[in-house]
Amino acid sequence: MSLRVTTSKFLPVLWGSCFLLGCSEEPRVKALSRPSVELAQWKEAGFVELVPPIRPPTSADGSDRISVWLRLPSAAQIITDRSSGEPRLRMPSGAELDRVEVTQRGDLTTAEVEDVRGTTFGPEGESFHVFRRRDAELWGLEWARGDAVAQRAADQALAAGLPPAARGRLVELNQCAGCHTPDKPAATRVAESTLPHRKTDASGLYHPQSVLERETPVEFSRPNDPNLADPFVRFRCATGGLSVREAGGSKSPRCSDGSVPLATLDLQRALAAGDPHAQAVCASRKFIWEHLDELGRVAFADAFSDCGIGPQRNHEALNVGGSKNG
Ligand code: HEC
Repeated sequence: MSLRVTTSKFLPVLWGSCFLLGCSEEPRVKALSRPSVELAQWKEAGFVELVPPIRPPTSADGSDRISVWLRLPSAAQIITDRSSGEPRLRMPSGAELDRVEVTQRGDLTTAEVEDVRGTTFGPEGESFHVFRRRDAELWGLEWARGDAVAQRAADQALAAGLPPAARGRLVELNQCAGCHTPDKPAATRVAESTLPHRKTDASGLYHPQSVLERETPVEFSRPNDPNLADPFVRFRCATGGLSVREAGGSKSPRCSDGSVPLATLDLQRALAAGDPHAQAVCASRKFIWEHLDELGRVAFADAFSDCGIGPQRNHEALNVGGSKNG
């Protein structure tokens, strides 16, 4: 199944941008749609979920679930870039990534997608896309990173369907490049900026790099941290004392001096206990290992060996991702 279908149903959006951009050239904002609102469609279309050791935060009732999906052309290799002074991943041409947010009530397989933000790396640069739920399908827009006119047209088209009070927030969240800056360092102080705390990789992405991390800065983008309920996750503060902030049913770790809390998943213990989340982390690392250059396999050897993945071990007993052997 193809995940990207252009339909004429959304032409009014294009005419809006056409009006703004001039109709003589190709529309710089492309309309997209997907005929389903189910999360299962990503797996069916050949995407692989990237599960980091430390989960993103969720809503107070825990129903908000963010997953990140990667699809690579068969021979494509993820590159390791050391220009920032430490190894960071760089996505190859043809890589497609989607951040999919669902509201989960009960079984995840029936969860419906609310919001998708994605990116595609091509020979001529990167394109952002967004999908929203409309009845039983997803509709969306795609535009080139760095095209300020197309960015404004996308902001306007996406905000148009919202109540006025929600439009400012939408436009803020639509400034993809602002958060997805390549080689962003990890924040050590909470008040440093409104950007996420984690570092980005050389492509400006968060999850792929954090899948390979042994210790990850905790994010505060939502009030409730599900990692606090995981017996295999440990928190610490680089400086200051650790406490848990509780408000309205949500729990989130804090450091007394305003430093960003750090979290580690004890993979050895979690795998030994057959923990499904730890198995999913190792399945993601295995996928990355299989598509990573030699430099990265060496640079991230610790993360791979925590999962029993390595040059000699990769083809042995390890069977992550659903096996009871973990
Ligand atoms: C406020 C910061 C922020 C903005 C604005 C933002 N993102 Fe993200 N994005 C994140 C974070 C953080 C993640 C990692 C998943 C998570 O924790 O939500 C993410 C994840 C993603 C991913 C999955 C790969 C990765 O980096 O983990 C894609 C693709 C993506 N975003 C695309 C977009 C697009 C397209 C837009 C604009 C329409 C956008 N983002 C706007 C912060 C942001």
